[in-house]
Amino acid sequence: MKTVSYGIAGLTSLLTLVTTIMTNTFVLGKTSETQSRQFVVTKRYLNFPITQDAPKRAVQVSVGGKVVARFDAEFATDTPGWWSPLDVSAWHGQSMTVSIENMPDTSQGIDSVSESDTPKGEEDVYKEALRPQFHFSAQRGWLNDPNGMVYFNGRYHLFFQHSAFSWNDATKSWGNAVSKDMVHWQELPEALLPDLDGAIWSGSGVDDVHNTSGFGSNGNPPVVLMYTAAGDPFVQCIASSTDGIKFHKYDKNPVVQNIAPGDRDPRVFWYEPTKHWVMALWVGQDGQNTIQFFVSPNLRDWTHSSTFKGGSNGDNFLYECPDIFELPVDGHRDNMKWVLTAANGEYAVGTFDGRAFHADETHLHGQLGTGYYAPQTFNHEPKGRRVQIGWMQTETHGMPFNQSMSLPIELKLVSTPGGPRMTWTPVQELESIRGIHHQFGSMILSQSSANPLSSIEGDLLEIRTSFEPQPGTITSYNIRGVNVSFDANKQQLTVNGNVALAPLRRGKQTLAIYVDRTSVEVFASDGLVYMPVPINTDSSNRNLSVTVQGGSVEINAIDVYILKSIW
Ligand code: FRU
Repeated sequence: MKTVSYGIAGLTSLLTLVTTIMTNTFVLGKTSETQSRQFVVTKRYLNFPITQDAPKRAVQVSVGGKVVARFDAEFATDTPGWWSPLDVSAWHGQSMTVSIENMPDTSQGIDSVSESDTPKGEEDVYKEALRPQFHFSAQRGWLNDPNGMVYFNGRYHLFFQHSAFSWNDATKSWGNAVSKDMVHWQELPEALLPDLDGAIWSGSGVDDVHNTSGFGSNGNPPVVLMYTAAGDPFVQCIASSTDGIKFHKYDKNPVVQNIAPGDRDPRVFWYEPTKHWVMALWVGQDGQNTIQFFVSPNLRDWTHSSTFKGGSNGDNFLYECPDIFELPVDGHRDNMKWVLTAANGEYAVGTFDGRAFHADETHLHGQLGTGYYAPQTFNHEPKGRRVQIGWMQTETHGMPFNQSMSLPIELKLVSTPGGPRMTWTPVQELESIRGIHHQFGSMILSQSSANPLSSIEGDLLEIRTSFEPQPGTITSYNIRGVNVSFDANKQQLTVNGNVALAPLRRGKQTLAIYVDRTSVEVFASDGLVYMPVPINTDSSNRNLSVTVQGGSVEINAIDVYILKSIW
């Protein structure tokens, strides 16, 4: 180990530098080293230089000898692609050590980590070419599952799986974003950072209104997050906050010990009839997906109450990220059913008595698109709605961020001849981003008709239409190069090559189509069909068309809204 003292010239920031320490190790025949730097925190952010696809290196941050964060970073050892900030304000005035492992000896290394009061490069955030304009995406780095979705103190919280220091999937923190309407989001500093207990994997959040946990006080209840610490082994943990911004991990974590390797994704909710908390946890046991239920009076002490068996390994039914909630059938509160969903969107409908779920039907299809995963719904939604957001696997090469979320979608149960089924409807709040409206009344379209949408150009779009197709017709919308077509004979919807059954309802098809920079979402058959599709729309194509083949189609209405950016 050698200790290097820094000269003033080496100080690019206002860090009060004490020492830089380099530990030499021999890796794959060439020298690499752990570079460390000790300083007193005087500014709010530490900015890390990041480049997409750079080799991942372990970064460790310690304060007072305790590791407060440990994560992998695609650390730029050359000109960085961008900067990712770490909010260190919680340790203001304290001595901090940052170390980066396996640094090549040629790199400019840890010197480039700089301190600042505002995130470096923040002036360019949300202006990037492939930035989703009305879907949430992280300012920096990789994002996956929505987590801890909860309405707390007048704001919706969307926590999310986040690797802020990497474009690719890497060690997970919980990012945090808040919104008054589930449409316009403000990203906050990370809520939970990974440490020596492991990465912070998916989980849920509740408003502990009655302060059952004791983490708040009467009149000042806490929001409590439950997550998987993905260490060795995986365990379930909690953290709390009274402001929804600064979170404290519970000092007696874990609250549920490991049951089987990789068990994860605790989904917690309040069960009002018997006034206790319930947790649904995915556990892969004996080659089978199980959802295990636990109950608790206080979110700290949990007792196993039942095991619901999903599919086998090959079948994947109820694999990871369970969600469970109650919905009225056809809006009738005297006919409630419970829905248990899994990461791929498949679901079961049945009953729940506070301790165990019993299925009437299983293996029901969820979304019928592609690249939509790990959806979750808000706890304590103030209007009593069940609103879901899923991870959209949109890929944005060359951008300082990657992946995004779906639209917020209201879930309902409706009766069908096959039994109660879920419907997906974009939340009403989305109407607030509607700009110019192009309206078309009823018309008959056939193969020889001119394109009624030829005069419209747009970038961000919502298109709503209902039509009555003759048998044998194919009705095709082309929106900025993305094809959405309905085949009346097959009762089949195709969205950019993805195919799903989408039955006519009373002889009509209704479509709501949302087009953003990196995704298209189509809602059909009165909401019984939801087809999300990640696709990077062609920025040079702003045209719209509707064409009909094989007969005639009576169009009842077409409404085209040019949408406004939420940023
Ligand atoms: C689903 C998932 C979860 C896990 C998380 C890790 O996408 O695999 O089961 O908690 O991602 O990021």
